Amino acid sequence: MLGINKLPYHATLQLPSKQKECQEILSLDGQWLFHWSKDPESRPADFYREDYDVSGWDKINVPGNWQLQGFGKPIYVNMQYPFHRDRPRVTGEPNKDWYAYDHRNPVGSYVTFIDVTKEMLTKNLILHFGGVHSAMYVWMNGQKVGYSQNSMSPAEFDVTKYVREGRNKLAVEVYRWSDGSYLECQDMWRLSGIFREVQLWVRPLVHIADYKVEAVPNADFSRAEVTARIAVCNTGKVTAKGFSTRLVIGGKALLDDSLMLVSRGEVAALAPGDTTTVTLTTTIDNPCLWSAEKPNLYSCSIDLLDKNGRTEHFDYHLGVKRVECVGEVLKINGKNVKLRGVNRHDHHPVTGRYVDDATYEKDITLMKQANINFLRTSHYPDREYLYELCDRWGIYVMDEANQESHGYGYANRVMGEDPAWKDAHVDRAVSLVQRDKNHPCVIFWSLGNEGGVGPNLKAMHDAVVALDTIALPFCDTDRSQSSIYDDGYLTPEKLAVEARKVTDRPFMMREYAHAMGNSMGNFQEYWDVIYADSSICGAAIWDWVDQGLAIDHSPLTIDHVQYAYGGDFGEQPNDGPFCINGLIGPDRKPHPHYYEVQYVYQPLSFEWDEETYRLVNRDCFTDPSEYDISSSDLVYGTEIVRNIEARLREDKPWAEKGFVVAREQFVLQSWNFPTTLEGKPAKVQKTANGLIVYTQHGSMTIDKSGALCSWIVDGQEMLKAPLEPYFWKPENDNQHAAHFAERLAVWKDAAENRTVKSLRTETGENCVKVIAEMSLPVGADLTLTYSINDEGKVMVDMDYKPTTTDIPLIPKFGMRMRLPADYTNIKYHGRGPWENYPDRKRSAFIGFYKMPLSQFETEYIHPQDNGNRCDVRFLKLTNGQSTLTIQGCQPLCIRAWDYGEEDLEGAGHPHEIQRGNFVNLNIDLNIHGVGGVDTWGQRTLPQYTIDGNKPYHYAFLLISGAYTDEVESTSK
Ligand code: GAL
Ligand code: MG
Repeated sequence: MLGINKLPYHATLQLPSKQKECQEILSLDGQWLFHWSKDPESRPADFYREDYDVSGWDKINVPGNWQLQGFGKPIYVNMQYPFHRDRPRVTGEPNKDWYAYDHRNPVGSYVTFIDVTKEMLTKNLILHFGGVHSAMYVWMNGQKVGYSQNSMSPAEFDVTKYVREGRNKLAVEVYRWSDGSYLECQDMWRLSGIFREVQLWVRPLVHIADYKVEAVPNADFSRAEVTARIAVCNTGKVTAKGFSTRLVIGGKALLDDSLMLVSRGEVAALAPGDTTTVTLTTTIDNPCLWSAEKPNLYSCSIDLLDKNGRTEHFDYHLGVKRVECVGEVLKINGKNVKLRGVNRHDHHPVTGRYVDDATYEKDITLMKQANINFLRTSHYPDREYLYELCDRWGIYVMDEANQESHGYGYANRVMGEDPAWKDAHVDRAVSLVQRDKNHPCVIFWSLGNEGGVGPNLKAMHDAVVALDTIALPFCDTDRSQSSIYDDGYLTPEKLAVEARKVTDRPFMMREYAHAMGNSMGNFQEYWDVIYADSSICGAAIWDWVDQGLAIDHSPLTIDHVQYAYGGDFGEQPNDGPFCINGLIGPDRKPHPHYYEVQYVYQPLSFEWDEETYRLVNRDCFTDPSEYDISSSDLVYGTEIVRNIEARLREDKPWAEKGFVVAREQFVLQSWNFPTTLEGKPAKVQKTANGLIVYTQHGSMTIDKSGALCSWIVDGQEMLKAPLEPYFWKPENDNQHAAHFAERLAVWKDAAENRTVKSLRTETGENCVKVIAEMSLPVGADLTLTYSINDEGKVMVDMDYKPTTTDIPLIPKFGMRMRLPADYTNIKYHGRGPWENYPDRKRSAFIGFYKMPLSQFETEYIHPQDNGNRCDVRFLKLTNGQSTLTIQGCQPLCIRAWDYGEEDLEGAGHPHEIQRGNFVNLNIDLNIHGVGGVDTWGQRTLPQYTIDGNKPYHYAFLLISGAYTDEVESTSK
């Protein structure tokens, strides 16, 4: 059963931003009365009756999810059904430890009261639900109105005959799971309730039931034929005569502002209960085309009139565009547009599946600022306002049907072929297109995600193309039903190969670059491939926002946990932190890798060409001259860099004039890395445990293991733990399933288990050298040399030579030390300001940066390796009195944390990390990249790893001294 007494799906009649101006809409949002039951048996079955006393019930916010308001538990699962799989039933016995075992199908009973005036009784009254998960029964004044499932699309019921003047009781019974849930197995928090707006539409008896306004450009785009199909229905008791419809097109996109195109048409006499469609046409000459780059919109209004004038009026907008596959090339308005995409779940950390307008605006702002031009509404239709923003601000949209039966397997035949499930599939396609067909931003209708293959998908496809021919049908699982050939999560190399094999249509990756935790490596590599092959139309990152739930918001409280992921509510089954895959946090703060996306997706790139740079324009409808492009040379000591920026010349809704849309950096003159240590040799003395070196300011002790275990400066110990070789790096999420810890395990204590073969000293002209020769259990020789002058400057030199040939990759090549906990202010010259790794550093330009340690670290919701800075020339840490400077003799990779590797590796959430006992400092030549393909096995690309079978050598200077706040750079 898909629905009882539901009205047909139709277009959003009034633009969401103008709904407040629409006199037909009465909002029913607010606090409703609520009762939660853990299963259908215990629900108050007759609560809908007028004489049922609900006065003692709880209150709940509508819209909202009941789990986030203190009723039952949220469940995060990826691929499986969280209830016993036995379609169409949902209450079979699951595993005993599953939440669903004791909560066989929770029920939310909702009640609210609606005041109806006498005047309203002369109208047609329609109850509108924007989204209810997963299914509901509706009663008005004790009488059954209907039933609906398909939770991400609106459900409407005609309640005219059930209401009366005065107070009316609206009762809604919502089931957490229904047979509809078999098509709603998306990878997300499984939440329930009336989570989108509820409205009462007070409509004239004769009204506009639906409309579709289509603008089709001719071959050379010199004209667009506009066709408006307006469905008018008569809900009254007498034949409607003398009605007409009017379409008015105007607005800025019409080159002559004052111009308006008006088209009128008579509505034929309409018998009670009938609906008729009036077709109006007009032509726009020399239309301004709509694209994500130039989102030109015409205003467009639809009126219904009777002989006395206007009886209904709706505001909308219109865009003229053409999307087509020309052979294997996707063209928008005739151009080979590249879709720089992202996937987005409708997620809010406090309100769950309900996302308010301000958050939509924030999201689309951040997307536009990151040069994202393509959004897939994974994996269901979002609220209408999101599409309006994409129309207005310019984002191409793949609008996705709420269809995923992943619990039966990816591309399953169970759901794809069973004729009993055909209508349920088609219902989800029809509701998608019917609601959103007037949005210029929609370029693809997606039939869903990770569902079935077979006739049911074909039926969805056929329903879509029967309703709309402007946007193209897309399907991931059943390629025979898709205008685009899709594959997901290929490596850059594989993408190039696979795309070459497909010659009958464009190629895309609907999902790629799994952005879980510290990730998004090799992102430029993808785009090198995509730009080089005109048949690849683009790709969409998985995904936009970390789906963490903010649990310091009562009533969801778990001590100290800021953002919950799967399992944090003790719910079974769950998929842990697999929902934390965003470019931004739940609070909409960009992660470091957001900026890498912004850089790689930029519409202009700059290529160095002998003396100057050359512009490459990646956009199709924007000329580089539309930006202010400037360059500035910055001098850092001996180094000169040229920074180039392309800025907006005027304000946009998503950024102010001057916003940097594209940028690049070229090094004109390189940094002079120190190679020698000047001065006079310090004095050295042998002890039972090693050696002590005396300098003007104190002493340094190098023990028998070759570690610098004490460093006293002016009576103060600089070290909380020795400086010594260290090759381990904790995993990040991408590396976990790639078995990083197992594959590279020999390195975990390779340095700790070193054997010192000799420890000797040499006194030279400028310094004394302490040389420790050792071997590592992995099968390699390692020589550490400390050159120390009498001022206390140290040059540390580490030399690695493998002695076998089967050594695993080195997690990181370098050393580690721990400083007193108060060295928490950092200044450095290197890549920044945000975290960067060898495979994710293009957006992080060389510069001089200052920040507190807390900002140098990145706090991931699921703790993991973080905070690296590449190409560091020098880095200073200070406690306000003293400073430690590390100067590379070549570029360094440096990480600094207020906790140790051992603290990080055991922690499931940031608050579990023991902090503040020391500053942990890793000083490396190189570090294993973060990886950027997927989080289920793909490894970091080989060019961003460290081969254990090659020799390495690096050096750096350690200088301690009083803190000075010198100026470090100048502009030329
Ligand atoms: C995709 C799927 C997404 C999500 C992702 C992993 O295959 O479509 O919904 O599960 O994998 O995070
Ligand atoms: Mg899935």
